Amino acid sequence: MAHSGAYRLLRDTISGLDRVLRTDVDSPKVVLVIGPPGSMKTSFCFSVMSKHLSSTDQIGMYLTLEENADSHMKNMKSIGVSFTNNVVIADFTDIRELEEVGNEDSPDYIMLIEKLVRNFRQKHGKSFTMLAIDSLGALYSLMDDSVSVRKSMYHFFKNMRDMGLFTMLIMEGSVSEGKFYSGSEAFLSDGVVYLGMDSTKGKITRFVQVGKMRACEHSMERHAVEIGKSGLQVLGPLLSN
Ligand SMILES: Nc1ncnc2c1ncn2[C@@H]1O[C@H](COP(=O)(O)OP(=O)(O)OP(=O)(O)O)[C@@H](O)[C@H]1O
Ligand SMILES: [Mg+2]
Repeated sequence: MAHSGAYRLLRDTISGLDRVLRTDVDSPKVVLVIGPPGSMKTSFCFSVMSKHLSSTDQIGMYLTLEENADSHMKNMKSIGVSFTNNVVIADFTDIRELEEVGNEDSPDYIMLIEKLVRNFRQKHGKSFTMLAIDSLGALYSLMDDSVSVRKSMYHFFKNMRDMGLFTMLIMEGSVSEGKFYSGSEAFLSDGVVYLGMDSTKGKITRFVQVGKMRACEHSMERHAVEIGKSGLQVLGPLLSN
């Protein structure tokens, strides 16, 4: 349901998501969206961003590192996600265009992404309110040293919050054993959303489950997710769990 004419962050952006998030989610926040391949991570984050921003005069950046901007658009169109000019799709080309990418063997991509985000902020000012990075796995695979990578993520999270952004970070990870992802990113983030697939009696059901969302009253149950005519839709809780 719309509030003051706007689709509230997360809650109003995907039909039925307010069954899971019972109170408003405010910004700034860093939210991880975790799930196995094909669990609709990209669709979820892009839907949340385009729906929310379409009702505002704000702007967002969707940085896709797994595919280029064109193939991302094709993928989203196939699922029926609506588009808005308020979302700018950036891809690896935009990172390569930054002057800092020299001939180093292993550039600091976290620093480069931060630079890209800061440039965007300079251009759009405070109307730049949302960021998505798809995905951290793609980003990590470009970098050598996982210990210092995770350390710099701490600063990255802080800097995104300081800029006032609602940031969604996509991560590959299985939630099939009912275990919550407990990597350092999950501790550092303000929210963790799991997208998974539950297999019972030969039927696979997609679900969404919120493991953590600071300052929000939310369900911990798995709720079924379907692709309807106009994109994703959250249905009732899964009975088998
Ligand atoms: N028109 C459609 N109707 C129903 N399901 C679709 C449709 N188009 C795509 N899908 C499903 O959506 C999945 C892709 O969704 P999405 O790209 O959001 O997932 P993802 O978790 O980001 O995947 P990846 O791990 O590949 O990045 C496809 O694997 C397919 O199962
Ligand atoms: Mg994806």
